[in-house]
Amino acid sequence: MKRIFEIDPWHVTTHEFNPANKRLQESITAIGNDYMGVRGNFEEGYSGDYLQGTYLAGVWFPDKTRVGWWKNGYPEYFGKSLNAPNFLGLKLKVNGVAIDLAKVEFSDFYLSLDMHQGLLTRSFIYQADDTQVKFTFNRFLSNSIKEAALIQVKAEVLAGKAKIEFTSTLDGNVVNEDSNYDEHFWDALAEDADARTIQLRTKPNPYKVPQFTVLLQSGLRLDGQKYQGKVETKSGFLAETGEFELSQGESKTIEKDIVVVTSRDVPADEQAAASQKLLDQVQAKSFAENLADHTKIWEKRWESSDVTIEGDDAAQQGIRFNILQLFMTYYGEDKRLNVGPKGFTGEKYGGATYWDTEAYIVPMYLAVAPASVTRALLEYRHDQLPGAYHNAKQQGLDGALFPMVTFNGIECHNEWEITFEEIHRNGDIPFAIYQYTHYTGDTSYIEDEGMDVMVGTARFWASRVHYSKHAGKYMIHGVTGPNEYENNVNNNWFTNTMAAWVLSWTLERLPLATKEAQARVNVSDEEKAKWQDIIDNMYYPEDQELGIFLQQDGFLDKDVRPVSEIPEGQRPINQHWSWDKILRSPFIKQADVLQGIYFFNDRFTMEQKERNFDFYEPLTVHESSLSPSIHAILAAELGKQEKAVELYERTARLDLDNYNNDTVDGLHITSMTGGWLAIVQGFAGMRYDHDHLSFKPFVPDKWNSYSFKLNYRDRIIAVEVVKGEVKIKLIKGQALAVQVFDETIHLEEGEEKCLKA
Ligand code: BGC
Repeated sequence: MKRIFEIDPWHVTTHEFNPANKRLQESITAIGNDYMGVRGNFEEGYSGDYLQGTYLAGVWFPDKTRVGWWKNGYPEYFGKSLNAPNFLGLKLKVNGVAIDLAKVEFSDFYLSLDMHQGLLTRSFIYQADDTQVKFTFNRFLSNSIKEAALIQVKAEVLAGKAKIEFTSTLDGNVVNEDSNYDEHFWDALAEDADARTIQLRTKPNPYKVPQFTVLLQSGLRLDGQKYQGKVETKSGFLAETGEFELSQGESKTIEKDIVVVTSRDVPADEQAAASQKLLDQVQAKSFAENLADHTKIWEKRWESSDVTIEGDDAAQQGIRFNILQLFMTYYGEDKRLNVGPKGFTGEKYGGATYWDTEAYIVPMYLAVAPASVTRALLEYRHDQLPGAYHNAKQQGLDGALFPMVTFNGIECHNEWEITFEEIHRNGDIPFAIYQYTHYTGDTSYIEDEGMDVMVGTARFWASRVHYSKHAGKYMIHGVTGPNEYENNVNNNWFTNTMAAWVLSWTLERLPLATKEAQARVNVSDEEKAKWQDIIDNMYYPEDQELGIFLQQDGFLDKDVRPVSEIPEGQRPINQHWSWDKILRSPFIKQADVLQGIYFFNDRFTMEQKERNFDFYEPLTVHESSLSPSIHAILAAELGKQEKAVELYERTARLDLDNYNNDTVDGLHITSMTGGWLAIVQGFAGMRYDHDHLSFKPFVPDKWNSYSFKLNYRDRIIAVEVVKGEVKIKLIKGQALAVQVFDETIHLEEGEEKCLKA
């Protein structure tokens, strides 16, 4: 654990600058507006080690697969979110000296992310022999004009005289650090010095992936007045310079307004006009007015989704940081988008869509956003069904195999143990349809498009299982479960459970589907009989004596030892051990059997849950950021309060405290729902089943109280849990019955009830 920011309920602040933590600091101070995002790079540039990162939602490139030994079935390319042209640049010189925090003397460093308004502020005092200049930077990516980024830099001379030169840049000469062939993915198309624009296009590719064209435009203001400096351009690069002089006690403010349009929304030949219009719109208002518009939207978002925690500011900061970063990545306003594991904060994981969306994003977004947002996430997969059919065919199988990693439905990850084997995703993705249907009560999706997804995945599973004559059971061999710390295992309990569930829910819902959907999927009686046979005869590895489900057939043959026996200083094991050693070890990366128990919570007795939790949790290193939340929820259900709180902190503060020592690469966006899930499904014990909503809340000893709101079936419900008491209020919507422990309460709109907890 490494904490470099101070604890505060609404801010993420530091007063220190340590070059060794630069990348970590940049990840944590990344900001976005679910259209684009930037890491916390410095406007004035930095000559030390850092990771340049600007990302535009939905703009990606298929990077040719590079492997030493080609295996049939490998995807041809790895899709990655492109490092987009850098628009932050605002280089500064004081009396001829370039301001570069790796080189110059400075004091009073301050960096703060205001979570209430998604505003990043930084300041420091440049110290020269006879001059002191304080620079204060403010930056936000607008929520009201998505294409706009606004930067403000105030220069104040505290001592001496300063000639300040500034150079605003738009720079298309950027590369992805993770490019397979160190390639540049952008071609410069045009630069227009008068309009202050550059236009670039992604390189051509042989894979029928569309090329993206982007146009960036900037405008300057000095003390709020439009300013035109001297412009120079090079291929894919534009610089506009200006200067002024200040004496002691004087200050001036430079503002840089940036607009970015992409061919996702505006065709290349219309981009210049469109961006000029947007820039005019931005510049019709002052920085403060634009910020106020932006903040108003944050206020609304916080109003409906803030979670308050009294008595533990670290826990409070964690959950707010998570909600902020999630909403800066995805707020459901563009149906073509999804949520990549790193959002706009780094390159790792390619910025693509993973099973994380269905397993982790959906359960929270269902309750904090309108139902249409989750529906859009479901439709995203439906739209990608052709790619899923392609993937199954690549593996020589029937039906549809959703990809582990994708932008367009086609698998674009090329580790065989993931691509070919981590097929549990083909159950997790349909499971989100189940969650949506049960939480919202809206059956129209499963009755129509959802059925295409169910039948496509059911057909896949029916062709992926095999029948073991010896055991008289259906089995699934050669898989990787959610625990990626063992590969090519047989009968991963979670995968077998998901496969059988897909078949059985498809059979259950098929007769209720629309006539059109039934005709489309055209499931024969023979197929149905086969599916039923698989359901009835699926093999589930168990150990009767221990009373546990086995993660896979050979699990108990391992040298089973708890994580506490890993020698000091060797964790995370993925940064200390060879991959071979990890694969042979009994240590579990993330919830696997317990992920299944979490999904199908009402199928198991408390005793079953407890035995499995007590067996698997001590073996789990939680080296996937997705892990702690599921464990926190189950620990809470089992009354293991201390464990639940420990795991809550681990999930909610994962990046703020750099638990897994990998936040330098970017934030763990998809696991950021974990803190919310741990509170709502864990501490408050929220469950739903058809139209039945229930709670079994407790307040962790360390906390005084907590509160949250739910968007449930067109209602807004507020829940506040204090020690010994729970208050539930139906803020908006039709009357509702809610179960709290064993009591059922009826709430009318506007009514609040208080119960002993
Ligand atoms: C986890 C996967 C996850 C991926 C992206 C991996 O480390 O093991 O379950 O899908 O990260 O978040």
